[in-house]
Amino acid sequence: MISQSDTSIATIIKKEKLRQTTQLQMIPSENYASAAVRDAVGSILMNKYSEGQPNKRYYQGMKYVDELELLVEQRALDLFKLNPDEWHVNVQPYSGSPANAEILMALLKPKDKIMAMYLTDGGHISHGWSFKERPLSFASKFFTIEFYHVDQKTKVFDYDEIEKQAKKAKPNILISGGTAYPRDINHKKMGKIAHSVGAYYLADVSHEAGLVAANVNASPFKYADVVMMTTHKTLRGPRGAMIFARKILIEQIDKAVFPGLQGGPHNHTIAGIGIALSEAMKPEFKIYAKQIIKNAQTLALELKKRGYEIVSGGTDKHLVLIDLRNKDISGKIPARALEMANIICNFNTVPFDSAPPLYPSGLRLGTPAITTRGMKEKEMKKIAVWIDQVITETLEFKLPSDRKERSLFVKNAMKKLEKNKIIKQVAREVKQLTSKFLIP
Ligand SMILES: Cc1ncc(COP(=O)(O)O)c(C=O)c1O
Repeated sequence: MISQSDTSIATIIKKEKLRQTTQLQMIPSENYASAAVRDAVGSILMNKYSEGQPNKRYYQGMKYVDELELLVEQRALDLFKLNPDEWHVNVQPYSGSPANAEILMALLKPKDKIMAMYLTDGGHISHGWSFKERPLSFASKFFTIEFYHVDQKTKVFDYDEIEKQAKKAKPNILISGGTAYPRDINHKKMGKIAHSVGAYYLADVSHEAGLVAANVNASPFKYADVVMMTTHKTLRGPRGAMIFARKILIEQIDKAVFPGLQGGPHNHTIAGIGIALSEAMKPEFKIYAKQIIKNAQTLALELKKRGYEIVSGGTDKHLVLIDLRNKDISGKIPARALEMANIICNFNTVPFDSAPPLYPSGLRLGTPAITTRGMKEKEMKKIAVWIDQVITETLEFKLPSDRKERSLFVKNAMKKLEKNKIIKQVAREVKQLTSKFLIP
């Protein structure tokens, strides 16, 4: 028991548990894994080394871990209704960023071209990103990156434009998926564009994995060559990832995972993934996934009614992106003020944001975790009112144009907001609400 063997760590866990219980966790990439998932991740499976693939290991004592990994692979294929003659899955990636690096290492040569969504439009850093000409991720250090954008007016993909750009750029791989794109992706069109220029199509459905599993977001499997997903977001498993690949590509992928970029698989995590997959097969999970979207759409609508600009006008998913440029404030101070009010979300860039990433113009909100707690449209309406009340209190704090003054300005603004009566009242009301909704 940690409480007896290490009181320092036990106390930190206890405090974090209280935080997760009493605040509204509205970061779209977070969720609450079930007690069964957590049991598996904390199990004796973590004691075993198992480099290699089931039945092809570099270690002895593999009887049960082989059985486990094969079972989890089968569940993954079953959940997404994949034919094992066409698809295979590797359940070993430690997380989404290593999984993407592994796919790129497997399919590309150094300097080959990746075409991916621009980061500040909502793309992910593991698909390539440089700042001031300095490559900041594995993908941009070793490959050539061509970014595509959302449409300037609608903030959704213009597939004709992406096609034109791909014809010109001739990428070796086209990647879809990101962290802040609120709309469903047309995988049929993306796959067609990729294949028309001889590129692979990688669908990174990390965010929407659970929504795809429940059939409430589009499935990429018919059109993609490789599909990557993290297991800890809408899929509600432990932190990890899975790479699904067409059979012809799997040998390269397996080799890139091990020995390419990883060592021993985290068998405890693989067991947790297996449990999450079987939970996602249950009818209740489909109801849960539908409710995630209903909640996000209600939140978007209620915020819109209160004068907030919602990127792309709404959402098809679990996330809502607010563009605060019409309020002339950065997302940073509202995100901090919302935290004071027990509402946890991200400050985030918005498409065509000219503000720097540390002081971006948006707020990103998600519904997977609060939906796991059982919250529905009624609670979303309340939350929208609270978010509006808190943001309204921050409107007077316009960031100074001199970048050097910003950090001190934010510090002083937060000092003032700490005493704000409305924010304190919202914090109390959030606590009351959260006390009625258990976490797993
Ligand atoms: C689209 C996408 N790909 C990859 C990742 C990376 O996952 P991880 O944080 O597990 O490395 C994320 C994480 O947010 C993501 O949203």
